[in-house]
Amino acid sequence: MTEIALTQDSPAAANIPAPKHLPDAQTVTAVTHWTDALFSFRVSRPQSLRFRSGEFVMIGLMGDNGKPLLRAYSIASPSWDDELEFYSIKVPDGPLTSKLQHIKVGDEIILRPKPVGTLVHDALLPGKRVWFLATGTGIAPFASLMRDPETYEKYDQVIMMHTCRTAEELTYGRELIEGLKNDELIGEMVEGKLLYYPTTTREPSEHMGRITDNLSSGKVFADLGIEPMTAEGDRAMVCGSLAFNKDVMAVLESYGLREGANSEPREYVVEKAFVGEGV
Ligand SMILES: Cc1cc2nc3c(=O)[nH]c(=O)nc-3n(C[C@H](O)[C@H](O)[C@H](O)COP(=O)(O)OP(=O)(O)OC[C@H]3O[C@@H](n4cnc5c(N)ncnc54)[C@H](O)[C@@H]3O)c2cc1C
Ligand SMILES: NC(=O)c1ccc[n+]([C@@H]2O[C@H](COP(=O)([O-])OP(=O)(O)OC[C@H]3O[C@@H](n4cnc5c(N)ncnc54)[C@H](OP(=O)(O)O)[C@@H]3O)[C@@H](O)[C@H]2O)c1
Repeated sequence: MTEIALTQDSPAAANIPAPKHLPDAQTVTAVTHWTDALFSFRVSRPQSLRFRSGEFVMIGLMGDNGKPLLRAYSIASPSWDDELEFYSIKVPDGPLTSKLQHIKVGDEIILRPKPVGTLVHDALLPGKRVWFLATGTGIAPFASLMRDPETYEKYDQVIMMHTCRTAEELTYGRELIEGLKNDELIGEMVEGKLLYYPTTTREPSEHMGRITDNLSSGKVFADLGIEPMTAEGDRAMVCGSLAFNKDVMAVLESYGLREGANSEPREYVVEKAFVGEGV
């Protein structure tokens, strides 16, 4: 499905001067539109910005009222990358994304360099396998963690379950994961360790169904030929809508895993991929 991606390639990133017109301004170096409702983009990285793979920052544009219009965004690039990557929804009437979806190479965005978040390795106790469980744009923090060598140093097996309504919505994640095999830095580490289990819920594809159903029925263990989940060996990170997070937490708890945090590492951690209506 590469042909649906309209990519503006990054010009020589090193030649882009750091813009200073907006507060905390960074320059857009690449934009890719994956579907009518999904796009990714890369921006210059503030030299002083240090973050842990899986964290999020506040980014945005100047609003019509002259004040910054900011939203939380997971950093999709790994902590070693020279640039920062983001993966975004386009909400038709969304205050930020109705404008952000039109950014082009050379434009500026605002980026507050204060990364935070719970989807970090430090918030989990050591284990044998780690499960990354995401719906929709919830794959963004895992796009970072899947490209981080620390993930493969810490675990024998990494299982990425990503579920979207349609196959087209899986494309960003699928292309990223296919590309990892040839990645100079972690290609060898990923080989045989990273298992990818994409599913759709509203159109046919190789594997179908909600993550919650595929975990509780044991279908994913059978399909991948792996042992069922245990509290001793398995760790999980969850990122999706509030309803998804709530339901998947119940499934993880049924396998004996307990929610952890930076201050109290346990067997799984959760972050909202977005704040839904009425929440
Ligand atoms: C911790 C955290 C991390 C986030 N990381 C990302 C990210 O990496 N990529 C991203 O696209 N968004 C992310 N979001 C959501 C993001 O902050 C904004 O809500 C989103 O960019 C839309 O902004 P908006 O101003 O256009 O609309 P808003 O007024 O913010 O949202 C309008 C409505 O659109 C829906 N919506 C918003 N974001 C999403 C989404 N990502 N997927 C599906 N429906 C959505 C919700 O129903 C929401 O009520 C994150 C949110 C949180 C809390
Ligand atoms: N107009 C459009 O074409 C269009 C397309 C995409 C999104 N949207 C809008 O954008 C918003 C977010 O959409 P989204 O697709 O990113 O997120 P979403 O509605 O959360 O759905 C993403 C995936 O998560 C699954 N899911 C949802 N709730 C779950 C739960 N409680 N437990 C397990 N799995 C769950 C869905 O399965 P199910 O399919 O079984 O629900 C779907 O496969 C929604 O308000 C939606 O209306 C619109």
